[in-house]
Amino acid sequence: MRTRKVLAGLAACVAVAAGGVAVGALPWTQDMVRGRAVEPQTLMQVPPPNTLAINHPRVIDRTEADGRLTNPLAASPEVLRQGRTLFDIDCAVCHGADGRNPGPVGKSFRMVPDLSEPAIQAYSDGLIYSIIREGGFEMPGYADALSPAERWALVHFVRTFRQPS
Ligand code: HEC
Repeated sequence: MRTRKVLAGLAACVAVAAGGVAVGALPWTQDMVRGRAVEPQTLMQVPPPNTLAINHPRVIDRTEADGRLTNPLAASPEVLRQGRTLFDIDCAVCHGADGRNPGPVGKSFRMVPDLSEPAIQAYSDGLIYSIIREGGFEMPGYADALSPAERWALVHFVRTFRQPS
């Protein structure tokens, strides 16, 4: 009786061991082990070239936007009116309603540039657009608060500060 139990136990061990070897040998059981594991902090995961996040246009950075993005809106009276309204809501607190004299919040900043300055007016539309989207050192970004069309309307409006030459 006892011998039989021992034999049955041994047989069970052999079966489990053999099963383990057989399962270990099946190719798909090793997929995860042999996969190219990327350890944290070892490899930057960049999206494959020419791919887009689903339903999102690729966001291009400030350097790329400079010169490559062009204003899709015409500077119509409605677009300029919309730009004025948005400027009064979002920008005037710092840049002043005239874009030149710091507004109530802008006064507490070390430096709020005069938007009529030739150096700023010489920026491309794409650069101004991405400054509005991303913000600057101290200036906040408007990626979440303004739609692309609203940002482009603001770009047209910022042009109205250009000093006559
Ligand atoms: C909270 C204050 C604040 C608000 C609001 C703000 N700005 Fe600015 N802006 C700044 C400051 C400060 C700078 C100087 C650069 C920096 O420190 O970010 C600046 C710089 C700029 C520049 C020049 C950037 C450069 O690199 O020379 C542009 C153009 C500009 N702002 C446009 C806007 C527009 C358009 C809005 C509204 C959508 C706006 N700003 C809202 C504070 C503000």
